[in-house]
Amino acid sequence: MYPIRRNRRLRTNAAIRSLVRETIISPNDFLVPLFVVEGKGVKEEIPSMPNYYRYSLDLLEKEVKDLWTMGLKSVLLFVKVPDHLKDNKGKEAVNSNGLMQKAIKTVKNTCPDMLVMTDVALDPYSSYGHDGIVEDGKIINDDSVEVLTNMSISHAEAGADFVAPSDMMDGRILSIREALEDEGFVDTGIMSYSAKYASAFYGPFRDALDSAPGFGDKKTYQMDYANRFEAIKETEMDIDEGADIVMVKPGLCYLDIVREIKNEVDVPVAVYQVSGEYAMVKAAAEKGWLDHDAVMMEQLTAIKRAGANIIASYFAKDAVRVLG
Ligand code: PBG
Repeated sequence: MYPIRRNRRLRTNAAIRSLVRETIISPNDFLVPLFVVEGKGVKEEIPSMPNYYRYSLDLLEKEVKDLWTMGLKSVLLFVKVPDHLKDNKGKEAVNSNGLMQKAIKTVKNTCPDMLVMTDVALDPYSSYGHDGIVEDGKIINDDSVEVLTNMSISHAEAGADFVAPSDMMDGRILSIREALEDEGFVDTGIMSYSAKYASAFYGPFRDALDSAPGFGDKKTYQMDYANRFEAIKETEMDIDEGADIVMVKPGLCYLDIVREIKNEVDVPVAVYQVSGEYAMVKAAAEKGWLDHDAVMMEQLTAIKRAGANIIASYFAKDAVRVLG
């Protein structure tokens, strides 16, 4: 008597394991989030995101060149807006000479082939720290969509390849797609944050941009993390409205959703491994409780195995270093 199939034969040594490995991480998988700040010569570490920085435009150039050299060819831009430029309607968001618009041009001038995606939401520009316009303590959907649409056009004019609405207002993808077509930006894509959950894992990001909501929370627009069907509905609606890429966010706690959406849709699926996920690994590694690189690669591989075609991750550079 012996086991009919000995599965361990395919695990006997590193060579056979690499031969049968199903999921391989490469630099091509990554979308690198970048935080941009006003000023000159600024490279400041975000306290809750060790070894992650905000860059002023001059130092952004160097960072973008480094990324390109490492084989990282896509960036997702976020800006930290000074308080005096914040208001309820995000006026600064459509300033053609604003920080985001300048950042887009800086990346494109430094590295013309780098793919530039931009965050579209009001929170960095909002005096309330919300993703849309506030009236009587409520986030007003349709007026917000109008601003988000103008913001997208402004990003396209500055040279963005893709706009990435992260706001979760209803109907924004259709409105943005129509406006891009009307303005002749037929090749400008939309990566929609389609299934974005109201998550406690965004904390460090809100530190990075000083964008925490001034009152309440984001639960009237971001999704309840208890829900699954809703993620499918949101994603299918965004595709019908014109999304080229859809996204699930956060990553690790939502891989069931990723797999389900991947099985359901015929567009690329992105996953955002968010700031809190990054912070947890860094903190545990700093204490010597976890092996940083091993845990990082395990998580990234799990995200890809679950069905991610694109991974937005603060670990992109660390991962490329490990890949060698
Ligand atoms: C804001 C936005 C957030 C993130 C990306 N875009 C925060 C939020 O919704 O409050 C989070 C990213 C991260 O935590 O890494 N529209």
